[in-house]
Amino acid sequence: MLRWSQNSTPISRAFDDIYYARSAGLAESRYVFLKHNGIPDRWDHTPYFHIAELGFGAGLNFFATLDLWRQRRNKKARLHFSSFEKFPLKPNEIRKALSAWPELEEVSRSFLLEYEDLPRGVHRLELEDQNTILDLWIGDALESLTQFQTPVDAWYFDGFSPKKNPDLWTKEIFQEASRVAKLDSTFATYAAASFVRQHLEAADYCVEKAPGFGRKRDMLTGRLAKKKITLAPLSYPHRNILGGGIAGLSLASRFFARNEKARLNEVNEDFFRGGSGNPLALVMPNLSSSESALSLFSLQSTLYTLRQYQRWQRAGHECGWHSSGILQLLNDSKKEERFLLGLAAHRIPPSLAQLVSRDEASDIAGIKIHSPAIFWRKSGYVEPHTLKEILLKNSGPSFTTSKDKAEETPSVICTAEAALGLSSLKDWPWKFQRGQISFWQTPDSLRKLRVPIVYGGYALPEHKQRMIAGSTYNSPELGSGLIDADHAKITDQAEAALHLRLTPEISGGRASNRLGLRDALPVVGPCEAQLLNIGYGSKGFSHALLAGELLASECLGIGVPLQTKVREALLARRFAIQNQAVLSS
Ligand SMILES: Cc1cc2nc3c(=O)[nH]c(=O)nc-3n(C[C@H](O)[C@H](O)[C@H](O)COP(=O)(O)OP(=O)(O)OC[C@H]3O[C@@H](n4cnc5c(N)ncnc54)[C@H](O)[C@@H]3O)c2cc1C
Ligand SMILES: C[S@@+](CC[C@H](N)C(=O)[O-])C[C@H]1O[C@@H](n2cnc3c(N)ncnc32)[C@H](O)[C@@H]1O
Repeated sequence: MLRWSQNSTPISRAFDDIYYARSAGLAESRYVFLKHNGIPDRWDHTPYFHIAELGFGAGLNFFATLDLWRQRRNKKARLHFSSFEKFPLKPNEIRKALSAWPELEEVSRSFLLEYEDLPRGVHRLELEDQNTILDLWIGDALESLTQFQTPVDAWYFDGFSPKKNPDLWTKEIFQEASRVAKLDSTFATYAAASFVRQHLEAADYCVEKAPGFGRKRDMLTGRLAKKKITLAPLSYPHRNILGGGIAGLSLASRFFARNEKARLNEVNEDFFRGGSGNPLALVMPNLSSSESALSLFSLQSTLYTLRQYQRWQRAGHECGWHSSGILQLLNDSKKEERFLLGLAAHRIPPSLAQLVSRDEASDIAGIKIHSPAIFWRKSGYVEPHTLKEILLKNSGPSFTTSKDKAEETPSVICTAEAALGLSSLKDWPWKFQRGQISFWQTPDSLRKLRVPIVYGGYALPEHKQRMIAGSTYNSPELGSGLIDADHAKITDQAEAALHLRLTPEISGGRASNRLGLRDALPVVGPCEAQLLNIGYGSKGFSHALLAGELLASECLGIGVPLQTKVREALLARRFAIQNQAVLSS
C-alpha cells in the first residue's frame, strides 16, 4: 500500500498521494491543525480536551499535538485523541516515517511500544506518561463515525486530497462530524475546495478561508455555529465497588490509573476467592463469523488486556502473564469455515491470528496435532493470583472487607453470582453454571507441550510441575467439592481431541461457578440506582479490563472506547428490548 519517494516521503499507492511533505510536514501540521484549532491556548482552562481526526496515517498530527501537550501547564488535564483510519500503517512504516523528526522521538516512544497491526474496530492505547488516551478507529471513517458518540472539541480533517480521496470529504462525513462536535468547537483542514466548504456549511459550520501553508494559497477553518441535538457526556458518581474478583479489581485499577479514588469492598477475607481464583486462566477472544457485538467487544477487550500486560512487563512488574500463543483446534469443517469467515470479517492480521495446518500446529505445540487450528499468536495464559497483586497495587490504597450488601449507594456491583439475589435481575436470561478443572501430574506424552490447546475443553502446558486441564459445565447445585465424574470427562475430552491415551494422575482440581448470559456478553452499566459489572461467563480475564475502562470512563465523563452498537449490547436494557421483540413476534 505504501511506497517511499527518493527523499523518504511516504506515498499511498492506492490514493497516489503523499501522507505529508517530508521537508515541512511537521511545520504544516502545527500551522494547519494546531494553530487553526486554537491549540494550545484552548487547553489552558480545560480538564479534558477531545480532538478527533480523519486519517491517522503516520500519526504526525497526533505527535505534533502530543509534543505541545507535553509542555502544557495543567499537568492534571487529560487529552483524548480519536483518529479514524481505514488502512493502518505497519509499525515499522510509522517508525520510518517519524524518523524524519528526531524532536518527536520522545513523545512517540510509548506509542511505538504499544502500536501493533490492528484488526477492524476501536483500540484504546493508553499513554499514561502523557495523561493521554488515543482511540484508533480502524475501518471506513463513515461507517465508524456512525458508531461514535464522544463530544468533540476540535476536528482535524486530514484525508488525502479531496480529488484523490473523495470518500473522506463527502456531505455525509461532515454531517457525522458535526453531529458529535460541541457547539463552538472548531475544525481545520489544509483543503480549500469549494465543495468541501459547501459540505461544511451545510453541516452548520461557520467556515473561513485562511492563508494556506507554504505555497498553498488557502486552507479552511471554522467553528460549529449551531447545534440541534447536544450529546451529553455521562458522568456517574459511583465510586463504591462491591466484589473483589477480576471484574471489581479491573474497574478499581482503571479509576486509579486516572488518579481517581474508589473504594473496593470484598466480603471474603481475601480477593479472588470466587470464580477468579483458578491458578491459571486463558486470555483469548470469542470470535464469531461476522462482526457481531460479541466478537468486536471480545477482540477489542482481549487486545486491550494484552497491551496492559505488556506495559506492566516492560515496566518490570510481574503480572503472571505467559505470552505463549494459543492453538484453537478446528476439529470439524464447520468450525474451520466459521473461523475463516471471522478472521476475514474482522481483518485480523496474521501477526495476531492465522489458520495453520496440522503440521504447522504440531510444530507450534511441540506435540502431534491432528487437525488444522487457529493460532492466536498474541494470546496466552495468566496466573490470576499474581495478576491480583498487581491489580491491587494499581487500585489505590482504599480496600475494605465488609459484609455489606449492595445497599450502600451509589455502588458498582461486581459480585457475580451474589447479584442474583437482586430482585430486578431475576428474569434475565442467565447462564449460571458450575465448572471444574483438573490438576494432572504431567503425562509423558504432554511434557513437550508448549502452548495451551483449546478444543471445547483445554489443556495448558506444564506449570509448576503440574498441568491444568478443563473444564466442565454443570449445575451449581452440585456445589464446590470436586467430582470424579468431572475429572473423567475432562480427561476423555482431552484424549479425544489430542488422539492420545493420557490416563493422567489427578492431583487435585478446583470448582467454582460461572455467571454468564445467553448472549455471552456481560452486563455493564446502569440498573436502577446502581451500576452493574457482572456476567462474564467464561471470559472474565479477557473481558473485564476493557469493561472496567468503559465504566471508569463513563463515571469520569471521558469518551468510551466502544462502538455505539457494542456499548448498547452491554447494557441491562437489552433484555427489555429482547423481551419486547419476543412478545411482538
Ligand atoms: C472452571 C472454570 C474455568 C474458567 N477458566 C477461565 C479462563 O481460562 N479464562 C477466563 O477468562 N475465564 C475463565 N473462567 C471464568 C472466570 O473465572 C470468570 O469469568 C470470572 O472469574 C468472573 O469474575 P467476577 O469478578 O465477575 O466474579 P468473582 O471472581 O466470582 O468475584 C465476585 C466477588 O464478589 C464478592 N462478593 C459477593 N458478594 C459481595 C458483597 N455483597 N460485597 C462485596 N463483595 C461481594 C465475592 O466474594 C467474589 O470475590 C473460568 C471459570 C470456571 C468456573
Ligand atoms: C493524508 S493521510 C493522513 C496523515 C495523517 N493525519 C498524519 O498526520 O500522518 C490520509 C489518511 O486517510 C486515510 N483514509 C483514506 N480513506 C479513508 C477512509 N475512507 N476511512 C478512513 N481513513 C481513510 C488514509 O489511509 C491515510 O492514512
